[in-house]
Amino acid sequence: MDKFVIKGGARLRGEATVSGSKNAALPIMAAALLCEGPSVICGVPRLADVLHMSDLLTDLGAEVHRDAQDRIVIEVRDENRSHAEYDRVRKMRASICVLGPLLAKRKKARVAMPGGCAIGSRPVNLHLRGLAALGAKITLEGGDIVAIAPRLKGTGIFLGGPYGSTVLGTANVMSAATLAEGRTVIESAACEPEVVDLAEFLNAAGARISGAGSPRIVIDGVRELRGKEHRVIPDRIEAGTLMIAAGITNGRVTIRNINLDHLLAVVDKLREIGVDVESANGAVEVSSARRLQPTDVTTQPYPGFPTDLQAQLMSLLCLADGNSAITERIFPDRFMHVAELGRMGADIRKEGYTAIVTGVKKLIGAPVMASDLRASAALVLAALVAEGTTTVNRVYHIDRGYEAFEKKLLALGAQIERVDGGAIPVE
Ligand code: EPU
Repeated sequence: MDKFVIKGGARLRGEATVSGSKNAALPIMAAALLCEGPSVICGVPRLADVLHMSDLLTDLGAEVHRDAQDRIVIEVRDENRSHAEYDRVRKMRASICVLGPLLAKRKKARVAMPGGCAIGSRPVNLHLRGLAALGAKITLEGGDIVAIAPRLKGTGIFLGGPYGSTVLGTANVMSAATLAEGRTVIESAACEPEVVDLAEFLNAAGARISGAGSPRIVIDGVRELRGKEHRVIPDRIEAGTLMIAAGITNGRVTIRNINLDHLLAVVDKLREIGVDVESANGAVEVSSARRLQPTDVTTQPYPGFPTDLQAQLMSLLCLADGNSAITERIFPDRFMHVAELGRMGADIRKEGYTAIVTGVKKLIGAPVMASDLRASAALVLAALVAEGTTTVNRVYHIDRGYEAFEKKLLALGAQIERVDGGAIPVE
């Protein structure tokens, strides 16, 4: 189990390039199950979650490899295997993305029901409601979702839930509807850029999807999809994390392969806090040389402030000049980082879905425990600026979602070292 040993205090300077988006790549890889012939996906980051998805697709009869040009090539060879087993699904919740494609293409799917995780309970009722509306018969057998549909039929589907839209639910229903008979209209669809990227891949493969990126997606079913080449969008969450790294260290970082249009709410907040963000020659320069200002922020579905940057922003606000309120409206229990930041001297009080952060003059290095991907990133950010040395344990969480994270930070002047701490536990 690797850990990071980080000596705080370096102001980050230099250039960093954002990797392709994990959350765009995973559903697109799953959607390759819908296609005849090879799907070629460029810009897929080298991450543990991508390896999990490759293994899952292999289990499901696909051939998956990374070619000499660093592209992931996926081609289905055997359509008889339709069971995503619990051992795979529990390692990566995004395994649920194969449900819609399997059902649409193979007429049946058996996918282990994902459990909860460190960021709270994560139901899939909306995925199932959407697929049932398309005509699937869905049962739960031995902890597996079993879905059967000799023919899916387009219809109107409302996909809103108690916390707004669902990203992977939209991906599943949209993917399945590409091969359904007639027209499907998804209302209250997720508008996230990753949904748009999936729609672009599917349209290139022959699907007829319009409206992706808005709450109303219209899909006219087609008979067949043919795999195509597609480049995934830059990872907006990695980009936001690097921006906060520049801000928290009072550094100056030029970020390449970044789409600021995907980060409008984040840029707006960072500027309010006192972090400068400027576009320059196709890149973005992020700097801060001043005391940070407090703010209030609420996570929301896109284009609002993303839940996947809530923890990282909290680290930044720990050092602002006053009180900030951070309200989590997507995953109300996503506050595992609060206690760990407290171990580093942060002053944070939780009240229901809100964390009140009172800025402190400094954070102090300590051994801390990463609990999930984004919480881990938040601890690394805090460590970059903390006095003394911080050990962030269980960094396999970071390896799930940030490609070469410590290498990128090292190149910016951070004092960070990966130390081998033995085998990864089975969780
Ligand atoms: N929800 C339901 N029923 C459902 C599905 C979701 O009530 O059937 C609720 C969830 O409990 C949550 C809200 O709806 O309160 C939104 O969840 P959503 O379904 O949008 O989350 P997801 O699709 O499972 C993706 C990302 C997450 C990201 C969320 C929200 C991937 C692989 N995962 O999850 O990313 O936090 O959207 O933007 O795309 C991460 O990368 O660290 C991560 C957790």
